[in-house]
Amino acid sequence: MSKTNFAPLKLFITGPTYIREDVKEAAFLPEFGHRDAENDLRFGPIRENLNKLAGAGDMYTPVLFLGSGSTAMEASIRSLVADDETLLNVSVGAFGDHYYNIAVANGKKAENLKFDYGQAIDMDVLEKKLAEMKPDVVAFTHNETSTGVTNDMKAVCALIRKYNAMPIVDGVSIFGGADLDLGNSGAAMYATATQKSLGLPAGFGIGFISKEAEEKAEKVTNKGHTCDITKQLGRARKNQTLTTPNCTLANQMYVQLERIVNEEGIQSRFDRHVEMRGMVEKWVEGLDGFEMFAPEGFRSPTLSTVLCPAGVTSAMLKKGVKEALRGQGYLMDPGYGKLNTAMEEAGRRLVFRVGHMGDITPDMLAEYLGKLEAELKKL
Ligand SMILES: Cc1ncc(COP(=O)(O)O)c(C=O)c1O
Repeated sequence: MSKTNFAPLKLFITGPTYIREDVKEAAFLPEFGHRDAENDLRFGPIRENLNKLAGAGDMYTPVLFLGSGSTAMEASIRSLVADDETLLNVSVGAFGDHYYNIAVANGKKAENLKFDYGQAIDMDVLEKKLAEMKPDVVAFTHNETSTGVTNDMKAVCALIRKYNAMPIVDGVSIFGGADLDLGNSGAAMYATATQKSLGLPAGFGIGFISKEAEEKAEKVTNKGHTCDITKQLGRARKNQTLTTPNCTLANQMYVQLERIVNEEGIQSRFDRHVEMRGMVEKWVEGLDGFEMFAPEGFRSPTLSTVLCPAGVTSAMLKKGVKEALRGQGYLMDPGYGKLNTAMEEAGRRLVFRVGHMGDITPDMLAEYLGKLEAELKKL
């Protein structure tokens, strides 16, 4: 292999994330033909394990889109919002806005209901908006990666259903790290990706598609090609992808999902994420001047956000703390760029993030928090 000067950093950002050695090694498994019987040996178990991890029962069909989380989100918009319908997007941060922007870029009639950074969806405000606007489809973010806030997916879907609208959900940064109980969630389509809490490289968008969504999509026109869930479902039912898959990633995904389901155990994986959230909470309690940013009860199990004392600037986080940790072999997350710019402009305190998703262990996290603390104390 030709020499590189790439740094072997331990990633504590919010995706892409740390990849285990055995998952890296799975990239050496044999390449295969995606219309050959060998394809089934990978994607059959992958699709079964995805449903198990999501708690989807037999209510959803998992589809793998070539691309990333945004590809699955775009497919939900193109296939489930007809041109004469309206979409209400509910945003609690930068990725909520991302879903809205995807809808607008596809020419959909959309409105964006925004909540302040760090807040979860306010159900009363949402209810008023639903009553007044009567949207056909409502999109929202399950786990807002820019602020570390997790919305109560089931409660939000139930409210949307009360107003006879169809809920579609962005779960990009939480799937694989928390119990979705998708089969009882009320979501019509749930979009996610490989590079976050699944602990894999990026490369597939994943969509869990309900029967209801499938039936609606059959009547929607102008769905494009790769965003057409009707076409995607046809191939998925044969354990295939609509377009040529990343076979290296498929091999890695097969190995990783078998390991999660049959070795680590789904519940242990979810418990480990909750334990790591607790570790960060406890650590922040002991840090003078720092506080958890997301409100209790709505804190993400896959990433934590920490509010800095007044006077800490973006430059201190980005050039000081982040670069000092790089020198020690860690990639630190100095906060979501647009969020900290907005906070700084409004004279508000800044936020940094700790990614603890996928296969990061409590021991790895403890070591990292120790190093991070030493740098924060120098501010
Ligand atoms: C909540 C959320 N939604 C959507 C996206 C976009 O996903 P992708 O980069 O996989 O397209 C991200 C990426 O960070 C995310 O965290």
